[in-house]
Amino acid sequence: MKICMIGVGYVGLVSAACFADLGNTVWCVDKDQSKINKLNKNQIPIFEPGLKEIVHKNHLSERLKFTTDLKLAVTNSDIIFICVGTPTLKKKKSADLSYVFQVSSDLSKYINKFKIIVTKSTVPISTGDKIEKIVSRRNNKKLFEVVSNPEFLREGDAIRDFRFPDRIVIGSNNSKVTKKLKNLYEPLISKGATFFSTDRRSAELIKYAANAFLATKISFINEIANLCEKINVNVEDISIGIGLDKRIGSRFLRAGPAYGGSCFPKDTKALTISADSLKTNLSIVKSVIKSNQKRKVILTERIKKILSNKIKKKKISFLGVTFKPNTDDMRESSSLSMIPYLSNKGAIIKYYDPSGKKNVFSKLKNTTFCTSMIEACENVDLVIIHTEWDEFKAIDFSKLKKKKKFIIYDLRNLYSSKLMKKKGFKYFSVGR
Ligand SMILES: NC(=O)c1ccc[n+]([C@@H]2O[C@H](COP(=O)([O-])OP(=O)(O)OC[C@H]3O[C@@H](n4cnc5c(N)ncnc54)[C@H](O)[C@@H]3O)[C@@H](O)[C@H]2O)c1
Repeated sequence: MKICMIGVGYVGLVSAACFADLGNTVWCVDKDQSKINKLNKNQIPIFEPGLKEIVHKNHLSERLKFTTDLKLAVTNSDIIFICVGTPTLKKKKSADLSYVFQVSSDLSKYINKFKIIVTKSTVPISTGDKIEKIVSRRNNKKLFEVVSNPEFLREGDAIRDFRFPDRIVIGSNNSKVTKKLKNLYEPLISKGATFFSTDRRSAELIKYAANAFLATKISFINEIANLCEKINVNVEDISIGIGLDKRIGSRFLRAGPAYGGSCFPKDTKALTISADSLKTNLSIVKSVIKSNQKRKVILTERIKKILSNKIKKKKISFLGVTFKPNTDDMRESSSLSMIPYLSNKGAIIKYYDPSGKKNVFSKLKNTTFCTSMIEACENVDLVIIHTEWDEFKAIDFSKLKKKKKFIIYDLRNLYSSKLMKKKGFKYFSVGR
């Protein structure tokens, strides 16, 4: 099939490359000229394991093309995916749909034959209706159909998630169009992905409800972890014990820092705002948002306590700063509040992240990026394991702390408390 992917960020680029790999011709359009230039030179603007090889292969075979020319891409395609960002509006907490609406208006100029316009961006309920209105200003309604196809891939596992999704959701009010999109996804459906079709508004809400539910699971276990710390109980045993109940399930029940990333924080906020505007109080989701905010404070307080309230001049190392491993995405990572707080209090921060240096910390006082874990842990008072990169799962701490003894605060519970104690380390973790 001939596809146009508008917005080649984490979702758009992965989806485009994987659709091309299935044999489709995919035009990728982005307004960011530097991104398109990089892609045309076979450079990948984001960090996503396995993506480079797929992009390279399909670019060479000319199934994957990169351009800033929307007209060229739209006129040569039958299915147009909108994959632009929907961040939180600065003052209102609702989703900023200006990118989605701008793209809808722009593409509406180039509808030369029947087009399926698919929203992959996460958007509030009834956004599809609004896109339809925008496109119909210039075109007869018979010339296009607007569909919702929410994306569930996770950064860091995006290729695998695209190829082996739990489900593919298509929200459309037109059965012919649903059938066409089912055909597009047929190679994945034949490998076991569940195809679920529904109306457009339901598909839009499925995405928000799924993210709100997952965020709730994380916040729930984080609060239980707070209780465990008070009563000398291991939260991991609680996670296993409750997760074995099939009605609950074990995934997303690992205590740790506040949830972050480009989706949960903004989608939970946008969902509650949408519901408020429809005079429906989603009180559970609102509590989750508050609980997650508080989580950042609780963990920072714990760091203070570990350091006996003496932060000034303390040397603190962060292992990992991204919100999760295998991505360079810093959006809403809990390190974004922890590191500036500690730096402002006079701590000397060193950080190492396998995805590289982060510009967001470059203006902070006494905060430096290290190119290795060894360098980051040299001569420090406290090592904080912030992100669960594989590299941090089997550290030889005895070797690292040869020059100076340091305390370890493991926010991901990567090590056994008992073993660390036995080896003589001052070791703190979460909910244990
Ligand atoms: N990142 C994830 O893990 C994930 C997972 C599921 C769903 N989503 C949703 O997918 C959407 C995209 O997320 P992302 O993380 O890929 O965003 P992103 O910020 O990485 O990428 C968005 C891209 O759109 C481009 N863009 C903006 N306006 C444009 C325009 N007018 N014309 C062409 N290109 C334009 C930007 O330059 C950018 O490259 C969001 O709605 C997000 O909520 C994201």
